[in-house]
Amino acid sequence: MKFSVKPTDSTKIATDMIVVFAGDSAVFSHEASVIDQVLHGDLADVSRAEGFDGNRGSTQLVYTHGGIAAPRVLLVGLGKANECTMVHLLEQAAVIGRKAKKIHAKRIAIAMPFDLLNTFSIQVLAQGMVEGLSLGTYEFNRHKSKETQEKEHHIDDVVLLVPAGKLDAAAYGKDMGEIVSRAVVFARDLVNEPPSYTTPTHLGNVAKSLAKGRSEMTCDVLGKSDMETLGMGGILGIARGSDEEPKFIKLSYRGSGRKTLCLVGKGITFDTGGLSLKPSDSMETMKLDMAGAAVILGIFSVLPLLKPKATIVGLISATENMPGSSAIKPGDVVSAMNGKTIEILNTDAEGRVVLADALSYAVEKVKPDALVDLATLTGACMVALGEDIAGLFANTPALCDALKKSAGQAGERVWELPLACEYKEILKSTVADIKNISGKRYGGAINGALFLQEFVPDTVPWAHLDIAGPAFAEKEAPLTPKGGTGFGVRMLINWLLQEK
Ligand code: BES
Ligand code: ZN
Ligand code: ZN
Repeated sequence: MKFSVKPTDSTKIATDMIVVFAGDSAVFSHEASVIDQVLHGDLADVSRAEGFDGNRGSTQLVYTHGGIAAPRVLLVGLGKANECTMVHLLEQAAVIGRKAKKIHAKRIAIAMPFDLLNTFSIQVLAQGMVEGLSLGTYEFNRHKSKETQEKEHHIDDVVLLVPAGKLDAAAYGKDMGEIVSRAVVFARDLVNEPPSYTTPTHLGNVAKSLAKGRSEMTCDVLGKSDMETLGMGGILGIARGSDEEPKFIKLSYRGSGRKTLCLVGKGITFDTGGLSLKPSDSMETMKLDMAGAAVILGIFSVLPLLKPKATIVGLISATENMPGSSAIKPGDVVSAMNGKTIEILNTDAEGRVVLADALSYAVEKVKPDALVDLATLTGACMVALGEDIAGLFANTPALCDALKKSAGQAGERVWELPLACEYKEILKSTVADIKNISGKRYGGAINGALFLQEFVPDTVPWAHLDIAGPAFAEKEAPLTPKGGTGFGVRMLINWLLQEK
């Protein structure tokens, strides 16, 4: 999909479909009114007759029969303009993309709704439009037959129509939208690939390829013996049940600014549960368990284009969680890199164990100004917040607020949950410093976060994003076809660019 920004007259542009907008009660945008006049009121007549109300999600296709250059107009409802959030804008853009594909429109032009949505800057509007269109029409069909692939309809060309005076700002937003979408697609593809392909070794190779030939980026991939030297007993313990070698991946991007920001990702390339084996229906989607790692790789794939000011370090603990004959057993004790011992009582609570080493490494070796981990950590977080919203835990209010703000601006949903110190008690073990499950039915997402907190001193600003729900779409939604969603890429890019 090729995007461009042009000041062309919306009645004259040669395209397969021109998109215009309407607000609440079907109030037309300026561009929609102009087209309606040229069409002698056809747009208003047809939309009234068909009951188009301008509500969010509503669309109305109108054929122009030569009245303007484009053969079709798609009228898109935005609902109440002052209630339109970034999530809504992205979803509407996704709806446009899907509609265009459905009617086989290869070229579309969009008359940007500046007059309706004056709460967004031009740049943000253009960025949102590009992201919504790219991500809403995303498909992963690498493993489908040639015939099926050929049957898919694609949009080749999208023109954002903007007044001449707004071209530069819109072009900047369009460029940003393209870069951010690329990062999200990178993450989605990695999650969607089969788990026997995206092994820890594969993730390591992907990371290396991102840094290759770039002076501002470096990549180290540690194998088993390096991890033994560092005392990473957590990831090594979880990896014991698998024939695949675990990898600890470190990516660094050197910015010109003062701050160092560290991202840590859970990279369980397949989670069977280990000896605490998952039932088969729960295992079906467990290739998703490296979604945190995929987000980091997606972000690093575009850092040279984004050129953030801060130095950014990405750490990934990558291993399979398998029940092989050498697998770690409930009752075993491992020692994490910071020396804390962990009693493993449930091998399916493996994410926190591999992250214990990654967080310890971040604290000891990276010494970041802020540390954010992303992990598909608990089913309990999905029970609490559903499939679309990530749990956000933080030991520092300023970092928590910055992440909430970045998520809101980027159109991703997070909700703060407490690091309730009164629950810390239940992680006490009788044989080790802590145990990896509480043994209680309740508060699973909080318990997971409290476990991770054991590996981060209070002096390091740290946040944990439990992305178990939003990392993977089990049902189709406008912006997220079934499968990996790349959740976290957009909010974190937004955050990284704001830190200097
Ligand atoms: N990878 C899972 C969490 C998960 C579940 C992610 C569903 C996405 C969708 C994690 O390793 C896990 O199995 N957690 C256990 C923890 C429990 C044993 C304390 C869980 O959530 O049941
Ligand atoms: Zn698990
Ligand atoms: Zn897991």
